[in-house]
Amino acid sequence: MEVLTGQGWCYTMKAQTMSDLALHSFPYDPFQQRAIDIIDQDRSLFVAAPTGSGKTVLADYVIERSLQRGQRVIYTAPIKALSNQKFRDFSARHGEEVGIMTGDVTINPTAPLVIMTTEIYRNTLLEDATRLSRYSWIIFDEVHYLDDQERGTVWEESILFTPPHINLLALSATIPNVEQLAQWIRDVHQRPVDVIEETHRPVPLTILFQCQNKILKTLQELKQSGYLGRDDWRQWRQVQRYDRYRPIHANRFESLIEELRSQDRLPCIFFTFGRRRAEELAWEFSRFPLISSEEHRVLRRMFDELCGRFGLNHDRSAEALGHLIDHGIAFHHAGMLPTIKEVIERCFTSRLIKLIVTTETFALGVNMPARSVVLDTIKKRANSGFELLRRRDFQQMAGRAGRRGMDAAGFVYVRINPMHVTHPEVSHLLHGTPEPVHSRFNTTYATLLNLYRRHGRALLNIFPNTLYYYQTTGPRRQAGLEFMERKLDLLEAMGYLVPSPASRRTDRTSDSEAGEPVPPDTLTSKGWFASWLYGYELLLTELYMEHHLSDLDPIALATLLVAIVFEPRPRSLPPKVTPLTKRLEHLCQEPLARIHKEETRFRIGPKTKLPAFSLAGALDAWMRNEPFYRLTKLCDVDEGEIVRYFRMTVQLLRQLSDTPAGDPTLRVTAQKALRKINRDVIDAEAQLRMG
Ligand SMILES: Nc1ncnc2c1ncn2[C@@H]1O[C@H](COP(=O)(O)OP(=O)(O)OP(=O)(O)O)[C@@H](O)[C@H]1O
Ligand SMILES: [Mg+2]
Repeated sequence: MEVLTGQGWCYTMKAQTMSDLALHSFPYDPFQQRAIDIIDQDRSLFVAAPTGSGKTVLADYVIERSLQRGQRVIYTAPIKALSNQKFRDFSARHGEEVGIMTGDVTINPTAPLVIMTTEIYRNTLLEDATRLSRYSWIIFDEVHYLDDQERGTVWEESILFTPPHINLLALSATIPNVEQLAQWIRDVHQRPVDVIEETHRPVPLTILFQCQNKILKTLQELKQSGYLGRDDWRQWRQVQRYDRYRPIHANRFESLIEELRSQDRLPCIFFTFGRRRAEELAWEFSRFPLISSEEHRVLRRMFDELCGRFGLNHDRSAEALGHLIDHGIAFHHAGMLPTIKEVIERCFTSRLIKLIVTTETFALGVNMPARSVVLDTIKKRANSGFELLRRRDFQQMAGRAGRRGMDAAGFVYVRINPMHVTHPEVSHLLHGTPEPVHSRFNTTYATLLNLYRRHGRALLNIFPNTLYYYQTTGPRRQAGLEFMERKLDLLEAMGYLVPSPASRRTDRTSDSEAGEPVPPDTLTSKGWFASWLYGYELLLTELYMEHHLSDLDPIALATLLVAIVFEPRPRSLPPKVTPLTKRLEHLCQEPLARIHKEETRFRIGPKTKLPAFSLAGALDAWMRNEPFYRLTKLCDVDEGEIVRYFRMTVQLLRQLSDTPAGDPTLRVTAQKALRKINRDVIDAEAQLRMG
């Protein structure tokens, strides 16, 4: 039974017929109710709504409704932290009915509700879509990732290959071309897709500026008192000699923090760009008194308890952070240990951390709002100098201000240096249209091999179904198709494909009805092996085919893999050369030369990257059971990055050991290496279970 309240429809009573616990304790907003009505008709749906407006409610609803009816659901998220949080949230309500598969972690993968990274969902579709025959809904959270430069193609392929019996719930931040994306899905799938666009933010946002060390409330004030009537100060610098000299007053942190404190606008998320700067600023802010002694006592106890739970009692970084915590301050960035990040995130939800200095990725999609948000700057370093933030990224960060149910309003402070940013740029960031989502279609070799396995060259027939095709015309469209063809040509030239004569344009929809997958007659054994690897397919396969992989011992194999995945940061120190790294580098030389030659010939970029051995020493120590804190002394890489690359190595090792195409020696070596690496802080599953 549904009840109409003053604020909208309430689901509370209806939920009681489905479960003993009400699904949500609040009345739904009209946009949520509209969405729920559509879900009730089992129709696919695309929802775009601002940050923090309550899109998760719709995912909750689909899940609750499906599980109650004995149907199955997949929920996909773009980042592992978000998947983990959802696993905990959903498990709290649905217990054993929830599973997770992220590449790092596999728990209960056949559960009625499975949380997956979008990559895993895409891979499942390619390898064996019949495994999804019993699922009725797929939820794509943060679906605007479709236009992520590197990963966007995964969303596009996932949507493209979703079988017709699975309904889609796509949840997106505010974007201008929702209708276009929905139309693409309608056309491709021949199914209805409803669209709901919500522009209203439930907690209103007030945007202010810090400029010339003053707090300014409007764009006009910014123009008058900040830019002194001019649009562009960079030109002004040149004409200054002829004009009356007016100095810039530097924006002081004291003034800003005093404003936040006196106006009761804490807790605050302070976004900056750069990990070092985040840490330095946090230490700088620790001189401000932000937290009462009572609050401090509670926060400290919580921090210590969480550190204990995550095995961080004697961790030096956690100890150092403890000093900041004593001041109600913390920092958070990708270079930190995942366990420490998690401790900080949990402390932050208590609202006792008054100020958190963080990089852009903080709490993306994870419900972790504050009363106010500060943007240190609105330009960030890009390949060619400094670039203005994207509208969408600005909104995502600014949108963190103001928590529903707790804050009547959210406040965003934008720090402006008129010498770096023009007034029209500020105005554009605030009021311009968010960037539309553009296709990033760029199939990996593994995707192509999996498609070729079933369709031969006829796989190119999928091209007119892509979002890329839908959004382009003329030469650009043609270039997209040719790029795909050239990749296939490369695979053929390198011996991955059995060339398909016109007669072999078969449409084998699935090969798993017969049980275990078998090598198809469309792929060579080389191609068959590569089709099980997602990423680094060419180099690994070339090495495998020459028996180089199977000849390695566990440490050498893992060292090679970590070098293949590792991407050195600019200006980092060159790695130490050891006999092992020399040997492995030598091993890669010839196959890489061959791959690069073909990549040049078929004009495919970016080229397969060279292995980089910066983590070789650290990995060796780790595999010989050294404690984690010693590793940072053995390499010029942040703790969080070490964990990330070791986990990527574990993932590759898992793929090598699981592929039905691999040889038994390699499988055993990979498993041995895996066991040696996947322990302690590297073991993502252990971390998930600790929480
Ligand atoms: N109708 C409602 N009434 C009151 N609170 C609500 C309502 N809907 C959602 N909320 C609350 O609003 C908060 C934000 O919701 P949610 O995380 O779903 O936002 P979102 O739209 O997914 O944002 P993001 O873009 O950050 O992912 C949650 O705490 C949720 O419980
Ligand atoms: Mg969300």
